[in-house]
Amino acid sequence: MHRPLHIIILAAGAGTRMKSRVPKVLQTVGGQPMIIHVLDTALQLQPAGIHVVFNPQAPQVREACADFDITWAAQSQQLGTGHAVQQAMPGVPEDADVLVLYGDIPLLEAGVLKKLVESPSAGIKVLTMQIAEPRGYGRIVRDSNGDVTGIVEERDATQAQKAITEVNSGIIMAPRSVLMSCLENMVSENSQNEYYLTDVFSIAYERGIQTGSVFAPVPRDLEGANDRIQLAELERRYRMKKTTELMQAGVQLADPQRIDIRGSVESGSDVYIDVNVVLEGDISLGDDVHIGPGCVLKNCQLAAGTRVHAYSVLEGMRSLGACDIGPFARVRPGTELMEGSKVGNFVEIKNTSLGKNSKASHLSYLGDSSIGERVNIGAGTITCNYDGANKHRTVIEDDVFIGSDTQLVAPVTIGEGADIGAGSTITKDAPAGELTISRAKQVSIQGWKRPVKT
Ligand code: UD1
Ligand code: MG
Repeated sequence: MHRPLHIIILAAGAGTRMKSRVPKVLQTVGGQPMIIHVLDTALQLQPAGIHVVFNPQAPQVREACADFDITWAAQSQQLGTGHAVQQAMPGVPEDADVLVLYGDIPLLEAGVLKKLVESPSAGIKVLTMQIAEPRGYGRIVRDSNGDVTGIVEERDATQAQKAITEVNSGIIMAPRSVLMSCLENMVSENSQNEYYLTDVFSIAYERGIQTGSVFAPVPRDLEGANDRIQLAELERRYRMKKTTELMQAGVQLADPQRIDIRGSVESGSDVYIDVNVVLEGDISLGDDVHIGPGCVLKNCQLAAGTRVHAYSVLEGMRSLGACDIGPFARVRPGTELMEGSKVGNFVEIKNTSLGKNSKASHLSYLGDSSIGERVNIGAGTITCNYDGANKHRTVIEDDVFIGSDTQLVAPVTIGEGADIGAGSTITKDAPAGELTISRAKQVSIQGWKRPVKT
């Protein structure tokens, strides 16, 4: 008979070793709280239920997981991993199989969990791994038949046990009834006075309950993060996985060690990414997109052929055709760049659509604007979109030429084909096809003498 699978995720630990005010499972890897990675993986097993044990003093954990369907179990006092599992048991149906995961093991993959779930064993089973320097892990102790007789925490281990390199990943599985009965016999007589989940193995062994194990071939994916050093190691590992995926998908990375990916990246062919680029959130890169060094992109869609030059920062924007951005451009949310358009150096553009072949090549602020096709925005042009209380739109129609150092005080419309003289402050709509200019006439004062020092 097939028993429903219920997954318990332990996430109530304080994470003392992180020395942080943020609960441990909310520490991020790849820009996402560790617990979210674990939940994503858990869902791939299509469990009948997911239970998360949390500390009611850290309600942020619940808030961070609002998108998931979770049965929450409070653990007010952190009395250990065994105690934590007990708190979730009332929510788990009698006939269930229980899989226990930890909220601080973010790189875990569903494949290895499936191996554990599918391995035949009537009793309790654990996912183990081989680690050359097993600092902080529980050691797997076996009898002469190779059966697991118990798991000993490092703090409680003898010198001989410390030398064991097969360790507890933390992930265990058992029918609810078996787990329940073993948990009831736990004692907290150990160096931390905690109820260790790992004790269920020695309890089961003594009672003649089968204790099985499945060996995880890639131990690094099962590493937990207890301190900042381990967290940084996981980050590096995460980055390696992501860059490998990207290169397999055909992206050329100038140096896979010098890019950070904190989200998902979709890419076409022959994309090139230079060094020290940070990609965050949902990124989509069309064929032949080229990203220069030092760029930061968050939630961006770049159409095929788009070039982003060095040190540009892009967020919440789309290019709809091949266009040119940077160097040193700041493209902010709500911006749409059409084919052939250009956002040059020291240009900030926000909530603006820049039409085909339109260019703002230098030193401008364009906010809340609709800019048509073949428009030239001169250096130093500013849209004054904010009156101190409200934002207003600027409309620039096709084929407009805006002279340098122009202020466009919104709301304002510049008609098709209009020219604006350099240095103008435009407060009223400018008619199509005409030159509008608002600067004072130039005069030269005859016989002018510079003041001299008295
Ligand atoms: C645990 C295992 C160890 C294993 C290692 C793998 C025990 C006693 N030890 O040690 O054998 O090799 O994981 O990474 O199980 N938590 C609670 N409530 C508590 C205590 C912990 O919810 O009262 C949660 C933590 O948030 C964390 C998980 O349980 O997600 C593991 O706790 P942690 O303190 O990290 O255990 P380790 O010392 O890593
Ligand atoms: Mg841990």
